[in-house]
Amino acid sequence: MTGAHDQAGVLDGDPAAADGATAAAVRIEDVSVRFRARKTEVLALDDTTLRVGRGEFVAIAGPSGCGKSTLLKLAAGLLRPSSGTVSLFDSEVTGPRADIGYVFQRAALLEWRTARRNIAIQAEIRRMDTGAANRRIDELIEMTGLAGFEDAYPHELSGGMQQRVALCRALLHRPPVLLMDEPFGALDALTREQMNVELHRIWRETGTTILLVTHSIAEAVYLAGRVAVMSARPGRVIETLDIELPDQRDYAATMSDPAFAAATNRIRRLLGAEGGID
Ligand SMILES: Nc1ncnc2c1ncn2[C@@H]1O[C@H](COP(=O)(O)OP(=O)(O)O)[C@@H](O)[C@H]1O
Ligand SMILES: [Mg+2]
Repeated sequence: MTGAHDQAGVLDGDPAAADGATAAAVRIEDVSVRFRARKTEVLALDDTTLRVGRGEFVAIAGPSGCGKSTLLKLAAGLLRPSSGTVSLFDSEVTGPRADIGYVFQRAALLEWRTARRNIAIQAEIRRMDTGAANRRIDELIEMTGLAGFEDAYPHELSGGMQQRVALCRALLHRPPVLLMDEPFGALDALTREQMNVELHRIWRETGTTILLVTHSIAEAVYLAGRVAVMSARPGRVIETLDIELPDQRDYAATMSDPAFAAATNRIRRLLGAEGGID
């Protein structure tokens, strides 16, 4: 562990260690979520707990419909829990929060705006200073490898490029927490690998706390410092694995690392018992 990430391990193990000086970036404590639709009721999350330390990269893997997206929506304040508490940096989440960035499976770009103008939407919504926003957009375009594509329209961009634009848009206001819901699920395998490498580098460079939902076990293990595995619905975190790989992760070297194989096998076994992954 180095630099911005050296507090990450503090929250593993004894929950009491999380109190005091090191506030968790995300704390989901004993949360249940019940959806009521007409006469039926769905218990989506059942008394589940997940804590993410500042600067940590945590991936969530679980069967389809187990409440992964629901967990992210709770953290973003888009949904209130039926019971339990959700907080970001020790302040309870009671509504939509400005200190998060959100990336969805679909890039959801406006077709009539260029890449640059799509990223700028975040600045417009948040009424950011135009000069500062433009400088930040330049920085993000550079960081995500979008240079040369700033003025392209979404239909002129590949899926990977579109997702880079969505990532820039989510990072524009420098949110300390980035929530990602299957962000690379629609990409081809090779593009997905490239995006994994880029995202991991961006995480190292920015120190942003990242909570990522993925249905790729390899992606979860390559990217994360910890992987939370969820049970089938009603969902709860059944095991959290520490990934014993260095922060600096060469893709090919990681794939052949015994620690990578051990972690992916463990997760596969856990999910097999839960009826697979979506
Ligand atoms: N707004 C909603 N109203 C009713 N049921 C919902 C709503 N959102 C999610 N659900 C249900 O809650 C469960 C968990 O959903 P979700 O968090 O989207 O699962 P996942 O992302 O793990 O596939 C599913 O059974 C889903 O149908
Ligand atoms: Mg989902």
